[in-house]
Amino acid sequence: MDLEKIKKSISGELYYFDSVGSTNTEALKSENAPNFSLFLAENQTAGRGRKGRSWKASSGGIYMTVLIKPDRISENISMLTLLAGLCVSRVIASSRIKWPNDIILGDKKVAGILTETKISGKSGVIAVGIGINANNTGFCEDLADKATSIYLFSGEKQDETGLVTGVYNELLRAYKDFDKGFSDFLDEYREKCITLNREVVIIKDGKECVMTAKDIGKNGELIAVQNGKNERIAFGEVSVRGLLGYV
Ligand code: BTN
Repeated sequence: MDLEKIKKSISGELYYFDSVGSTNTEALKSENAPNFSLFLAENQTAGRGRKGRSWKASSGGIYMTVLIKPDRISENISMLTLLAGLCVSRVIASSRIKWPNDIILGDKKVAGILTETKISGKSGVIAVGIGINANNTGFCEDLADKATSIYLFSGEKQDETGLVTGVYNELLRAYKDFDKGFSDFLDEYREKCITLNREVVIIKDGKECVMTAKDIGKNGELIAVQNGKNERIAFGEVSVRGLLGYV
């Protein structure tokens, strides 16, 4: 990656690591770093994913965290996470979004987002962690039918510097309009959302519940219907039939 070029095209500081546990951890402990600093690693040894999962690094992957320091920590984190998904999807041609923020190419995952916060009193920091499979040439056995890279999907070597600066700048721009909430982004999100009008399985009261995803609500929640009854799913995991190895 061209670190000089990245430095020039971002508004905060660049913190680069050849290898680090997790860029999110680094961002969350760097309280003195300026707003919109970028934490970037060539390799992560303890990368975290959503739902307490790990995010394994392999060569060709992008591991980045954007540190956001809002004036007050009232930002709706779940909507910010949807916004970040939209920004990543804008940069990866042909990608779609599996609600809330798995980025999909074909029927496999190409990027994921983990937003974490550290709150102290009324202030706090937000780490928007983004993992993108850019030039990865393969994945471990348990991910083989679920994960792809942009390179594997398109057959074309990817410009990792361009992806990093592209995602960073999309997020920076979109965040400026985020004051008003997610509503300005909703139509674009709906268009990109691969979950809509498909059969989904959610876990409700410990039981699997098959529903049809119908819409995204104004706060980013998934609206699914079962037996004519609407259910609003604010967060959590949904499996989508036909995606990520779920048949
Ligand atoms: C997911 O489970 O889909 C979210 C994966 C997020 C991975 C990224 S890689 C950079 C940042 N650092 C981490 O430890 N996790 C995020």
